Amino acid sequence: MKDELIKDVKARYIEAFGSEPLLIFSPGRINIIGEHTDYNDGFVFPAAVDKGIAAAIQKSDTGVSTAHALDMESAIEFQLDNLKPQAEGSWENYVLGVVAEIQNRNKVVGNFNIIFRGDIPSGAGMSSSAALENSVVFGLNELFDLGLSKLDMILISQKAEHNYVGVKCGIMDQYASMFGKKNHALLLDCRTVKSKAYEIDFKDHQLMLINTNVKHSLSDSAYNDRRSACESIAELLGVKALRDATLIDLETVKDRVTPENYQKTLYVIQENNRAIMAAKALEDGDLEALGKLIYGSHDGLSKQYKVSCEELDFLVAQARMNKQVLGARMMGGGFGGCTINLIEKNATKAFAESVSEAYLKAFGKACSIYFIALSEGTHLVN
Ligand code: GLA
Repeated sequence: MKDELIKDVKARYIEAFGSEPLLIFSPGRINIIGEHTDYNDGFVFPAAVDKGIAAAIQKSDTGVSTAHALDMESAIEFQLDNLKPQAEGSWENYVLGVVAEIQNRNKVVGNFNIIFRGDIPSGAGMSSSAALENSVVFGLNELFDLGLSKLDMILISQKAEHNYVGVKCGIMDQYASMFGKKNHALLLDCRTVKSKAYEIDFKDHQLMLINTNVKHSLSDSAYNDRRSACESIAELLGVKALRDATLIDLETVKDRVTPENYQKTLYVIQENNRAIMAAKALEDGDLEALGKLIYGSHDGLSKQYKVSCEELDFLVAQARMNKQVLGARMMGGGFGGCTINLIEKNATKAFAESVSEAYLKAFGKACSIYFIALSEGTHLVN
């Protein structure tokens, strides 16, 4: 699929502009565990995947810039000296936001044309947005010799998301997409923005994603609300971020926070610990332990942090009924998207069939099943 995407954007670029473009592939990500911990300066455990965005980009000498989203069959023309956020939810914000944030760093970007297409299902919780942002910043950095490091680039992508898209995201998605390593997951410390790569070989088990194919509205505002709740509780606790809080600290303010915020804080502290314990379980080759942590993560996200939804809870309940699934949980920001399942290899077919049937019966719509390979981060394609 990746090769087809690249061939396609290249052909479309040449057809439209008659010159050879630079080609970039920028992947989406999965996350094994550590959800809603990134903006609390905590630990996450993501990996880049073999689904992503292919972009063709080249300088433009026509005095304007253009961007063309092939999947949306939508194109825009814009002036670099007059960038503004567009309507909420529009794809343009990912592109324009990145350009604006590069300019905010006093770097000079010239006019360019970009054409892109992807195979990450949108709203799946697999970071199609970070993949797109990274492809743009990576392409512009190459094209205009901006001298940005990979770390600079992901911070620019994240700022674009904050200021143009309006989601106050953490750094996990942009990091995983940019720094991904083939066959590895990255235990990322979101405070130092440094990671340790773990080779992922689950032997007779594997990861399987199940997409609810729903994305409930208001998920962006709910996300921002969670983040600001975490920040105000950190302030109350007198710590820089919830990553620094302990269960004992939390007890000292119990009567000064709402029961809901108490549960949310408890979740963050516990989830951060689970991410660290998951790395230990991987080191020990203890997949049962890893699976239990993954189920624990879902319970916390659903009951304490309250970012799950009926469809996600249903898929995880289906997994729990199957002894060959060691762990399952919702993945990403929540309110829809995928579950990630750690499942015995020889059980995938039967589980895919039974879960698809049950989901269709319960919700009157189909879920989608994906198998992914862990892959390298944003890169130039020759
Ligand atoms: C979204 C955000 C990330 C992270 C996850 C939840 O994907 O973009 O920064 O907070 O949600 O873990």
